[in-house]
Amino acid sequence: MDLAGKVVLITGAGVRIGRALALGLATEGMRVVVHYHHSSAEAEEVVHEIEAMGEQAIAVQADLRDMLRLPELVEAGVERFGHLDVLINSAAIFERGTLESTTETNWSRHFDINIRAPFFLCQAFARSLQSEQRGHIINIADWRAQRPGTQYMAYTLTKSALVTLTMSLAMAMGPQVQVNALAPGAILPAPGDDGYFERLAQRLPLQRTGSPEEIVSGVRYLLHSDFTTGELLYITGGEHL
Ligand SMILES: NC(=O)c1ccc[n+]([C@@H]2O[C@H](COP(=O)([O-])OP(=O)(O)OC[C@H]3O[C@@H](n4cnc5c(N)ncnc54)[C@H](OP(=O)(O)O)[C@@H]3O)[C@@H](O)[C@H]2O)c1
Repeated sequence: MDLAGKVVLITGAGVRIGRALALGLATEGMRVVVHYHHSSAEAEEVVHEIEAMGEQAIAVQADLRDMLRLPELVEAGVERFGHLDVLINSAAIFERGTLESTTETNWSRHFDINIRAPFFLCQAFARSLQSEQRGHIINIADWRAQRPGTQYMAYTLTKSALVTLTMSLAMAMGPQVQVNALAPGAILPAPGDDGYFERLAQRLPLQRTGSPEEIVSGVRYLLHSDFTTGELLYITGGEHL
């Protein structure tokens, strides 16, 4: 896809990886719908930075747990820019929970935000497309999606489901929409990280952690490719091995 002038909706685009995606895709000439939940000042700052580049953007607030807000988020982009071409599901929560400690709240929050919202956003995106339009969906998963683990039970299950959803939607939405997923490794430390991130780097095949710009490069690759769908692209420095 030629990205200049195309419209992308990115969830969780006020901070961290979502922010880097918004700014990185604006440099390709894309118009950006910057979704946020609590990070309103940060989202407005992203919009200002994109406008300073000479591109267009709007910030739209939504709690992704609220089912009514999901189609409204897509509608806000369509209302402003006429249509959407690309949906990137990046917003997620990542909270610890073992077999013993996982509560119903921890479980429900992960499933509502990390998999229910992406699915119904994909549905709203599909319904918004005109018949001759081509589109892309990119789901930001995690290498943990393909590896069993004991510390982040609900999180891992939602990311596994997101990968399966990606493959199912690639079948359901072709040839009009290409649907791919990206599996980041250690890109940015979780808030309150006590040095685990630094120590981890030494154990990875490439002996370093990654950067949000490397996620942007992966997304660029997927969007530029016209023959890739149902793919899970690992950007992990080899952590998934
Ligand atoms: N960081 C990494 O190294 C890493 C590694 C593997 C996978 N990933 C994946 O990459 C993606 C981005 O990661 P990140 O670390 O940059 O994210 P993050 O810092 O954890 O940010 C989470 C984002 O999700 C949004 N969000 C959380 N709850 C929400 C809700 N109820 N409704 C709407 N939005 C909500 C937040 O919005 P507000 O800030 O506006 O509230 C925020 O933008 C995630 O899917 C994550 O699982 C990241």
